[in-house]
Amino acid sequence: MLRAAMSRLSHSRSPSPRPPKRAKFAHLTPEDFKNGVFLAPMVRSGAHGRTRLFCTAQRSVDPTTGVISYNGKSRAMFTTHPVEKPYLIYQIGSSDPELAVQAARVVMNDVSGIDLNCGCPKPFSTHAEITVSAKIRLLPSQEDTLKLVERIVNTGISALTVHCRTRNMRDRDAALVERLREIVDFVHGMGKGIAVIENGDCTGAEDAKRIRDITGADSVMIARAAEANPTCFSANPLDDVEKTFTPAYLRVARYLDNNWGLTKFCVSQFKAKHVDFGKPAQKHYRQVLNSTKGFDGLEEIVGAWTGEEDFKEIVEAIESRPPRLHEVATTASPSLVVTPSDTTNPEPPSSGAPLALALHRLDHPVLTGGDPLTPTPGGDLFVVTA
Ligand SMILES: Cc1cc2nc3c(=O)[nH]c(=O)nc-3n(C[C@H](O)[C@H](O)[C@H](O)COP(=O)(O)O)c2cc1C
Repeated sequence: MLRAAMSRLSHSRSPSPRPPKRAKFAHLTPEDFKNGVFLAPMVRSGAHGRTRLFCTAQRSVDPTTGVISYNGKSRAMFTTHPVEKPYLIYQIGSSDPELAVQAARVVMNDVSGIDLNCGCPKPFSTHAEITVSAKIRLLPSQEDTLKLVERIVNTGISALTVHCRTRNMRDRDAALVERLREIVDFVHGMGKGIAVIENGDCTGAEDAKRIRDITGADSVMIARAAEANPTCFSANPLDDVEKTFTPAYLRVARYLDNNWGLTKFCVSQFKAKHVDFGKPAQKHYRQVLNSTKGFDGLEEIVGAWTGEEDFKEIVEAIESRPPRLHEVATTASPSLVVTPSDTTNPEPPSSGAPLALALHRLDHPVLTGGDPLTPTPGGDLFVVTA
């Protein structure tokens, strides 16, 4: 989602053997969350780990690839690469406000914003040193939803994502997209310029246009369709992903030393249309994938292990995006924002209730500074969940 001046990235075309210098980015503003089609937060597909453990994570940088890892005792809980920083919002869910603050402090140098998976049952406050967005579900009544939205918007967030299902709805129940128009009008009517992001049942970039027409939303966020076909953000998504997409995906995953279990999970979720990849080929592909316990043994699928080359291509493609000038917000956000104390938590359905977040003070002004070439959102969003 974050359209970026990638030339600002310290870690440019070829990964440096030294840990990259940290790039300075200005605050993202509500404008930066508009006109986008974003990847939704999904545990397992992104990062995972308990917030408490994450707070004690040790940060390390791979000297060859530049990959940054936040490591727990036995494994990395979150990995990222500097090239994705301008596109990366980190989602936090915790019932403990202090822990959430600590988690935000741990990761804020490597991301462009924090998303609160929220309803915020307790007050939180933040000094405006990092961009904060929020994601909610619909409440059963529209009136209650609007009240919740009003309170959250008044906290000074930059963007609000509305998953158009109530807490009791299953994923297979059609999202109540028709309820969003009134919410969008309401938020826009509040005059703060905050971006409203629709979430629920979007199938891809083309479908996002339809959803924006119906709802008036500023942007759209996609979860399961992206999990099934990560190329759905393209105007021309790929068919036969096992053949057209997975090989390079696996090569890059291996080059970046991505966790094998997570990699396999993601690959096993791919389910795009089959045009030229018949049943016997699919069966064989699954056999190869299922029989391997690591990246070794996948040569039949990936061809040569050219992950470094694949990754360079990705970096070049990102860096060729035009930069967007972006001024630092000086007046837009209040220095202290307070979430209403009596809101119930509508999101997510299964995890218990995040989020009582107290971002009391984020001391590192990582996202401040008057850099005229500051990256801003606008393309695809990668969201991870702590
Ligand atoms: C595997 C999976 C993991 C998810 N994890 C999270 C999460 O950690 N945080 C969150 O806010 N939503 C989570 N969600 C919900 C999605 O972000 C999204 O709100 C929901 O799937 C509806 O979007 P969709 O209709 O495009 O799938 C998850 C969904 C899936 C399928």
